[in-house]
Amino acid sequence: MRPSLLSILYFASVVTAWPWIANVPGVDLSAIHAHPENFAKQRRQTGGLDPTCPFNADHPGAAPFDVRFPYTGSIDGLPGTGIGGVQVPAPGDTAHEFTPPGPNDIRGPCPGMNTAANHNFLSHDGVTNLAELVSAQQNLYNLAFDLATFIAVRGIALDGDVATTKLSIGCDATERTSIDPTGTLGREPGLDAHNKFEGDTSLTRRDYFLNNGDAFTFQGDMFADMYRVANETSNGLFDRDTIAVYRSQRYDESLASNPNFYFGPKALLLYGAASFIYEVFPVFGPEGDANIDTVSTFYGAVPNSAGTYDHVPERIPENWSNRRTAYGLVEIGAEIAYQYSYAPKLIGGNVGAGNFLALNSTFGIIENGTIPSDATAADFTCLLYQLATDNVPGTVGNEADIPLDVLAWVLTQLNPVFENLGCPLKLS
Ligand code: HEM
Ligand SMILES: *[C@@H]1O[C@H](CO)[C@@H](O)[C@H](O)[C@H]1NC(C)=O
Ligand SMILES: *[C@@H]1O[C@H](CO)[C@@H](O)[C@H](O)[C@H]1NC(C)=O
Ligand SMILES: *[C@@H]1O[C@H](CO)[C@@H](O)[C@H](O)[C@H]1NC(C)=O
Ligand SMILES: *[C@@H]1O[C@H](CO)[C@@H](O)[C@H](O)[C@H]1NC(C)=O
Repeated sequence: MRPSLLSILYFASVVTAWPWIANVPGVDLSAIHAHPENFAKQRRQTGGLDPTCPFNADHPGAAPFDVRFPYTGSIDGLPGTGIGGVQVPAPGDTAHEFTPPGPNDIRGPCPGMNTAANHNFLSHDGVTNLAELVSAQQNLYNLAFDLATFIAVRGIALDGDVATTKLSIGCDATERTSIDPTGTLGREPGLDAHNKFEGDTSLTRRDYFLNNGDAFTFQGDMFADMYRVANETSNGLFDRDTIAVYRSQRYDESLASNPNFYFGPKALLLYGAASFIYEVFPVFGPEGDANIDTVSTFYGAVPNSAGTYDHVPERIPENWSNRRTAYGLVEIGAEIAYQYSYAPKLIGGNVGAGNFLALNSTFGIIENGTIPSDATAADFTCLLYQLATDNVPGTVGNEADIPLDVLAWVLTQLNPVFENLGCPLKLS
């Protein structure tokens, strides 16, 4: 596609940074010029073999499509109708009944994926693929085909295998995801991997460097903290203001406590994931209440006597219906814009305690670690495309370049779904 006038303007527009962002506690803008000697401290997870990753010889695959219970009608990863408002699981649909994971099933940092696997919308062992991911997100949650494709492609490109399109929704299962089961071509770490899809400032998972590398296990005290913010902000609702305030708080906590805190351009995706709590989890999505009952059921959070939460398998609430209108790339761009603008944060990371470096190279609309205050929802949507198709610079994170075979596959998958959104596309 040739660049549209809109996209040329988008790159050429003169931008002003948030003027007061430099006053965020602990942030030192003058430190943009990094100390290279600190770089070694910011080590990337190598993604080595995880001997504790469970193995289930039974790989059932997602429950097959059944004409009696079509949901949005997505079969084999193709686009469905986008028409939701459907009860899930439909009465009588025993194939999608709640089925808790056994000890050999893989689960990970994403409550949406864990729930989908626990209801057989994804293979119950937690090893899935592109077609399952794209259909599950449409049929279960009524995500639009474009957004479902985008997230699945991100997950597979970062943490899975673009040849088999397989992905582990948790730990490293390279022998089952890779076209090269011996792993000599490289490990495929699954969604648990740090600084690929998963990142610092998660809502209910601790930062990698603050928890001995475990950035994927549900933390009941953090869930209680999110609920406390809901009480203080929105009378107990997990709505967009609650989530915006809580995400801001999580950034401030990581900035202050994590010497290896990293919040690169990709971290903008975490605002998108957070929006699912109020756009997708409630009965009928944004028409319903993101209350404690709904959110805790999807998270598998049950209150305990200590005033925090224990974890049980994630599940769909009883008599739950998905949102009526599909949630797509345009809509999620607006939610990322809303949350980010509510409490703008510098993009960058710590190199040592209290030593924050803003990103000093330009990436899309991000300059000097800031996003211009006139950035639109459409700008954020286009930034998502760039995150998936450009080499993302990292002041301290040392982002890896996208391998050419991965980039070719990503462009093949994403150019069609971004075609009509006015973003400058790369040639595939
Ligand atoms: C292929 C599709 C998806 C993939 C690969 C994926 C992957 C992930 C990953 C890796 C995280 C961790 C991010 C972090 O560091 O905080 C995450 C978080 C999250 N995801 Fe997903 N996700 C997908 C779709 C969904 C859907 C459809 C929903 C909701 C219906 C969802 C809900 C969430 C929520 C609420 C979080 C925040 C978890 C927390 O920290 O409390 N995701 N997802
Ligand atoms: C950005 O930071 C790196 C690391 O310190 C440094 O080598 C580079 O010169 C900086 N670039 C600019 C434009 O300041
Ligand atoms: C939030 O408010 C509800 C209702 O008052 C209360 O039961 C609950 O304990 C509060 N939770 C937190 C974490 O503040
Ligand atoms: C779900 O719907 C059934 C049938 O209408 C009803 O008996 C049951 O009480 C409902 N459960 C909840 C939790 O609303
Ligand atoms: C980014 O920093 C450079 C070097 O200090 C400066 O010339 C440029 O105007 C800054 N850009 C913005 C948008 O602040």
